[in-house]
Amino acid sequence: MKETANAPANIAFIKYWGKEDKELRLPANNSISMNLSDVYTTTSVEFEKNLKKDTVYINEEKVKDRKEKRVVKHLDRIREIAGISEYARVESTNNFPSGAGIASSASGFAALTLAATKAADLNLNEKKLSVLARLGSGSACRSIPDGIVEWRAGNSSETSFAHSLFPETHWKLADVVTIVQEEEKKVSSTSGHDLAPTSPFYATRIKNMPLKIREIKKAIKDKDFSLFGEIIEEEAINMHTVMMTSTPPLFYWNAATVRIINAVREWRDNGLSAYFTIDAGPNMHIICQEKDIEKVKTRLKKINGVKRVIVNYPARGASLI
Ligand code: PMV
Repeated sequence: MKETANAPANIAFIKYWGKEDKELRLPANNSISMNLSDVYTTTSVEFEKNLKKDTVYINEEKVKDRKEKRVVKHLDRIREIAGISEYARVESTNNFPSGAGIASSASGFAALTLAATKAADLNLNEKKLSVLARLGSGSACRSIPDGIVEWRAGNSSETSFAHSLFPETHWKLADVVTIVQEEEKKVSSTSGHDLAPTSPFYATRIKNMPLKIREIKKAIKDKDFSLFGEIIEEEAINMHTVMMTSTPPLFYWNAATVRIINAVREWRDNGLSAYFTIDAGPNMHIICQEKDIEKVKTRLKKINGVKRVIVNYPARGASLI
């Protein structure tokens, strides 16, 4: 049977950078993220008797090599659980143009996990879906539950999964995704994670995580926007410091990234409450309250190097269509 699922991308407020177990994708620390309403993947999967191999299309293009292997490996995991041997036809589309500089592995593996397990006649609960999505791409486990989500690091495959902390209706935050570079990043996050422990600051980062997580949970619960913003900005800079001081060093920012960092700090000095966070690439996420979205958009568009902005609200996790 053909099944189709939708899954959002997510932005991490407390980041996952560094693994305890590479094969199982067990992270070194818990992370906290928000699902994004306007950046998502839709995937359909059908297992068919007459297929001679898995066929995978992303945005109507047949995928090959490394990307194809990663999807096939994920389908193998699902075939093993379901006890089936048929190959699958997978068709996946992102609602954002590919090469827009927006990572699609989280939304992609979350949508694939839900659609493929359903198509294989499995009825997995949220926890099991999250565990399985994690094996495809770490941060994909956070695109399964709704709203604002915590991925508990755990110490085994079964104990490392994400759960919802607050529903998408809890707080109308906005993430103005700001694209400054459209090409794919040069160093994938998969290889970046392996370098994290080579930074002299990594151990301190991990040691301070439990306190930071407690603080941000409270800030989100109390809807204390300035405290929340201070934490997410410190966290993004903290992770990028580890990246820049690993061996070899990783520099994900470009000139426009730095221009936006400076601009956001200046806006705050002049009374506009907005904060930034940055993943493994030069693109920015400007987090603000709903009332300030238009101001933030107008100001961003004036900055040299900003190619486009996409406004997002907290969203539900993966769902079947
Ligand atoms: O799930 P991965 O391997 O794409 O790693 C995600 C890494 C960051 O985006 C930088 C941080 C995060 O927690 O999403």
